Amino acid sequence: MTHLFPDTPTVDLVARAGSHYTTNYRQVPIFLTRGEGVWVWDRDGRRYLDMVAGIAVNSLGHAHPRLVAAIREQADALMHVSNLYYNEPALALMDKLVEVTFADRVFFANSGAEANEAALKLARRYRTTIKKQPDRTEVLAFENSFHGRTFATIGVTGQPKYQKGFEPLLPGTHFARFGDIAHVEEVLARAEGRIGTVILEPIQCEGGLNIPPKGFLKQLRKLCDAQDMVLIYDEVQTGVGRTGEWFYYEVDAVKPDILSTAKGIAGGVPLGAMLCTEEVGRGFEPGSHASTFGGNPLATRAGLEVLRTIEEERLLDHVFEVGEVLKTGLQALCDRHPERCAEARGIGLLQGLELRGGPELVSAVVSGCQERGLLMNAIQGRVLRFVPPLVAEAGHIQTALEILDTVLGEV
Ligand SMILES: Cc1ncc(COP(=O)(O)O)c(C=O)c1O
Repeated sequence: MTHLFPDTPTVDLVARAGSHYTTNYRQVPIFLTRGEGVWVWDRDGRRYLDMVAGIAVNSLGHAHPRLVAAIREQADALMHVSNLYYNEPALALMDKLVEVTFADRVFFANSGAEANEAALKLARRYRTTIKKQPDRTEVLAFENSFHGRTFATIGVTGQPKYQKGFEPLLPGTHFARFGDIAHVEEVLARAEGRIGTVILEPIQCEGGLNIPPKGFLKQLRKLCDAQDMVLIYDEVQTGVGRTGEWFYYEVDAVKPDILSTAKGIAGGVPLGAMLCTEEVGRGFEPGSHASTFGGNPLATRAGLEVLRTIEEERLLDHVFEVGEVLKTGLQALCDRHPERCAEARGIGLLQGLELRGGPELVSAVVSGCQERGLLMNAIQGRVLRFVPPLVAEAGHIQTALEILDTVLGEV
């Protein structure tokens, strides 16, 4: 592999980044240059076990031979054509998504936020042009949610820290407490029929890995049916096998009308998708929404290979099995370090360990793990997140848990 800066020390590159990148990231001072499976290496040759996976993106791990071969072959043949024309990889991925989900129709985007933008726009347009109810365009979203960083998506993100300084936001958004159906009913009643769309993550990820109480999602679906509201599931993080099902909605058998997905869908190539029913899909007509890069053959060929690999290598079952190892191990850590650990929670390979002791302690744990060759990340300054590649083996999980055990004993 060719290094772009073979003679420059890493500290100098970090300083250069500090001088000219915009100042919106807080980055760890390592440059990752290579990966294989669940392992990544930095430019100074250090190896790390990757429990972050690009924040739930590298679903097949790094440099998966099948994914690399598919991308190479597609890059050789055709990378981009625009939606003025059809292309075969996009059609094949569309077919696969329709086959494994509730959806009748698919729109391709390039990220999670864009998939959510498409979802919100479709719900709005369905309401105004098909239902002809321009007085029902308001949206119910949830406290502690996260839907992305565009203007519309920060508007429905129920965390003030993402909104601060960007006001005015999308008008007509109401927030209810996640998991509290009585509060949802209260907010709906207060809005006096103006709400026509509900958007939520079935498990809140960036909000701290919050799993709603049993029955909540079913009750919410019932409310949406009773009050004729479009239900959008944001499965950007929970989707594509992470919970041991293709999508989390299958876990408790609640079908949304629209579903957004991204992150792991193309294993590291930027791709998002919005899936919807035939009925709600009527809200779009030629020209009502578009994306230059959306559905390009390179990204969709990668997506197709990810889905085929998940299926052919039986990764959904694998995620369930390895997820159980992770769950048991995190619970054991809670039992061994009760003064440091508050709770282990999650499902499949989307799990977290909530720590006691504040953001400084959590950051010391993350750094301690990194020094010992384990990449971890924390959400909300309190929950250590485990979202390894779906191909991680039980042995990798055990290694990660052992390192974390040592670090928890030291901090
Ligand atoms: C649930 C959820 N929705 C949307 C997004 C935004 O995705 P992206 O960063 O690809 O725009 C994220 C990203 O973390 C997410 O977790």
